[in-house]
Amino acid sequence: MRKKIVAGNWKMNTLPAEGETLARGINEFMAEYNAGSDKKIILGVPFTHIDRVIHSVDSEKIAVSAQNCSQYDSGAYTGEVSASMIKSLGAEYVIVGHSERRQYFGDTDEIIGHKLAQAYKNNLIPIFCCGESLGERMEGKYFDVVKSQIINSLIRVEKSNIVKTVIAYEPVWAIGTGQTATPAQAQGMHAFIRRTLADLYGNAIAGEISILYGGSVNAANSAELFSADDIDGGLVGGASLKAEDFKTIIKSL
Ligand code: PGA
Repeated sequence: MRKKIVAGNWKMNTLPAEGETLARGINEFMAEYNAGSDKKIILGVPFTHIDRVIHSVDSEKIAVSAQNCSQYDSGAYTGEVSASMIKSLGAEYVIVGHSERRQYFGDTDEIIGHKLAQAYKNNLIPIFCCGESLGERMEGKYFDVVKSQIINSLIRVEKSNIVKTVIAYEPVWAIGTGQTATPAQAQGMHAFIRRTLADLYGNAIAGEISILYGGSVNAANSAELFSADDIDGGLVGGASLKAEDFKTIIKSL
């Protein structure tokens, strides 16, 4: 069954002790809150925080995600962190293809494809991000851009793996800008993504995949966004660093 998901993306924020405090706060809230078995709460934390956060939360209620992984297995790749290293700490998810990685660190669709393969190989669930830039939206090319990101990166992914994948639609113009896509804009794209997945893998599989919206999700707009048919939750950046806001977003799921 398709899951409803709220995933925090802390990006490069908080020192480990601060991250632990934040995670413990969310954990205390989740101990009281009955989210239901169709819902999943994920914290996407820096590599340096994974071990500490995992030991601070109840894994039945909160899963931990890395924000990136290497495209390689192991070897002479100074500064890289492999999917197997992430898995060995107990993380369950990894964000792959975030627009900040594409923009600042040279992640291409092809590299992202290799990172996805690493995730599957090591039993991590990838949260695959896609989304158009402001220019691409203004030019009306947004459906084409997102379709090509999906096809080019997911091309080698087998059916057995695609069902486990979480997709996050994150229009670049909405990330960290305070300018959220309207529920209608987001729903339009999510329905399009599901149709694209259906063309590639069939309706049944497309219906199983959770598609999250990301880009300035906050405590005031999450409920309306999440009520749309094809929006299965959110990937939340800035607001995931504020415990009270993040709790409100979880409650709106
Ligand atoms: P934002 O970031 O919520 O701060 O816009 C979302 C993301 O980049 O995942």
